[in-house]
Amino acid sequence: MDAHGPIGVFDSGIGGLTVAAALGRVLPREDIFYVGDTARVPYGGRSAATIQRYSREISSLLLEEGAKVIVVACNTASALAVPVLESELEVPVLGVIGPGAHAAVQATRSGKIGVIGTRATVRSRAYEEAIRNLDSGIQVSSMACPLLVPLIEEGWLEDPVTDSVIERYLAPLLQEGIDTLVLGCTHYPLLQSAIRRFTGNAIALVDSADNCALAVRDLLQKRGLVSDAGTGRLQVAVTDATGGFLQVAERALGLRVGEVLHRTVRPLTPVADPASCL
Ligand code: DGL
Repeated sequence: MDAHGPIGVFDSGIGGLTVAAALGRVLPREDIFYVGDTARVPYGGRSAATIQRYSREISSLLLEEGAKVIVVACNTASALAVPVLESELEVPVLGVIGPGAHAAVQATRSGKIGVIGTRATVRSRAYEEAIRNLDSGIQVSSMACPLLVPLIEEGWLEDPVTDSVIERYLAPLLQEGIDTLVLGCTHYPLLQSAIRRFTGNAIALVDSADNCALAVRDLLQKRGLVSDAGTGRLQVAVTDATGGFLQVAERALGLRVGEVLHRTVRPLTPVADPASCL
């Protein structure tokens, strides 16, 4: 493994730039190569097998770029594909679930944590398991929020429609008495202020992006993979058009992405006869 290689980051789309931005703050000298699988976003409603196949294929694009570590910025892929990638790849793999769970356990005082994410993330119970492994006494209440990603991609970050969707999803969690809320999806940090409007300041919002970046820094240090020659360059590639969401994310994150590259996904395993899936 070459310490001079970039940190490879992938997400189902552009939302994982929240993690790339956090990595840039924590590790300003590391180069980052980011792939957003915009051809196949969203992952959040798909089966575990499909999410694992997509994750393998996107990881292989990152390895072609010389990635020294693979950061799975997508919560859905982290919940369902990290163990598979870890067992198959020679480079270290890090997802966002462990760092997010750790931060939530540190933040809670009441021992009641809420988790929001895509349907696949919530169904996997990955956050619940990670939190309970850290502290079995904690009560975890989860809520799938499938309408939030499209609203964010539309750029409706400060909008009464988004506010009322947030209220509808979060009211039951607040009734459970949570004092900490895990934003378990790449996109949700962009809704921090809208979520805060509903929850008030008494609830800690845990964003896995910052905690994941700190975990990547620890991992690079432990494995002797810190680069002394990187320039902090962020290269972004996508597998299809990004729509207008790239501009929304750049504005909200204060990131300048520059030229966006294109990569084509090649199937790694023979594709099943579609007729057999019907
Ligand atoms: N990136 C996904 C996640 O963090 C959200 C978008 C999707 O459903 O693919 O869970």
